[in-house]
Amino acid sequence: MKINPKKSLKGEITPPSDKSISHRGVMLGAVSEGRTVIKNILLSDDVRSTISCFKQMGVDILIDEEKSMVTVYGAGLYGLKAPKDPLYAGNSGTTTRLLSGILTGQSFPSEIFGDSSLNTRPMKRIIDPLTMMGADIVSKNNNGTCPLVISPSSLHGIDFLSPLASAQVKSCILLSGLYADSPTSVTEPSISRDHTERMLPAFGADIKINGNKVTVFPQRSLHGIEMTVPSDISSAAYFIAAALITKDSEILIRNVGINPTRAGIIDVARRMGGNITLLNEREISGEPIADILAKSSELNGTLVGGDEIPTLIDEIPVIAILAAHADGQTVIKNASDLKAKETDRIFTVSENLKKMGALVTPTDDGMIIDGTKSLSGAVIDSYNDHRIAMAFSIAALNAKGTTEILRSSCASVSYPGFYEDLESLQK
Ligand code: S3P
Repeated sequence: MKINPKKSLKGEITPPSDKSISHRGVMLGAVSEGRTVIKNILLSDDVRSTISCFKQMGVDILIDEEKSMVTVYGAGLYGLKAPKDPLYAGNSGTTTRLLSGILTGQSFPSEIFGDSSLNTRPMKRIIDPLTMMGADIVSKNNNGTCPLVISPSSLHGIDFLSPLASAQVKSCILLSGLYADSPTSVTEPSISRDHTERMLPAFGADIKINGNKVTVFPQRSLHGIEMTVPSDISSAAYFIAAALITKDSEILIRNVGINPTRAGIIDVARRMGGNITLLNEREISGEPIADILAKSSELNGTLVGGDEIPTLIDEIPVIAILAAHADGQTVIKNASDLKAKETDRIFTVSENLKKMGALVTPTDDGMIIDGTKSLSGAVIDSYNDHRIAMAFSIAALNAKGTTEILRSSCASVSYPGFYEDLESLQK
């Protein structure tokens, strides 16, 4: 994809639906009794991986592509069927880690694997707590990564002090806890996205939340629901940034989930001087949403770290682009988990920013960026990471000369239609 700088961006966007909520809707629907209807679901590559894994286990799932609606005819907690082949999770860490929690409760053996990126991502973070629960889950090649091989076992509740603020780890354990013979708790160092906790009670599960601690109680059954998925703030983030860094721009981004465990990008962008207004705040299927109006702004550097990191972990590539356009220094710290994402995002962000002439120093847990305001067009490698492809497409809007994004089609992992939406705003 070749992208030229733009003088001004104006218009409205409704970004694609939330990826995390879409995955969870399919998974909880599949292990519930009865029908779950998920309206406005994200039909991206990652969510399709979750759907196809459950289809392999005999769950009837109807996809209405035109209406972006999925109907899941739930098999119940104990009604999944043994898959004939290993389950393929594609590029999706959420599919792998959350599904593993469900698989540990089944009476059949299973195996789960992914693409070349997913197969290198750390799985010890779920293998260890699941093993403490009595699960039989091993890394097939004994290297802490996929393929994971899961065999039937009896599960008991644990009180897990998670070393990481990770919603994938937390949700994996809570889903496994549905099948345990006693309550299961997860305490996080700071609160990660809480969509699983918001959704579980809607499906009929008993949970208790006390600060950073979530407890799930063993369940006999869950029941299907009707739900509507809001737009994904992680996808909206590209257009917030596009408006802020491009002169004479104003973009209205509709129906965006602003769950406080996800909305750190808004706080950071405002702290940097970003002109962002939340309009029409309301709730949809237990999640707060708003329309976001973002306008061209003069930005300043800031410090991004601590408890705020889990609330914006996927937005750090695009925050780095904002930082390159700011006055002064931005320090991003306490974010070493960036190395465990679809790519090592400390490396892939800094390498590409350097190619565009930014002043960036990678650190062990983040990066330091000295704002230069003017970037130069360059050949950018997405390394097949959707968030790198999209963040650098935004950087291209304000660069001198053309930017070429290699392997740009990976955007479809979370945002099919990203380049078309970007094009639609260009004036
Ligand atoms: C996700 C949690 C986050 C995030 C990922 C989606 C989820 O990962 O980066 O894109 O849906 O639970 P971690 O839990 O590994 O931080």
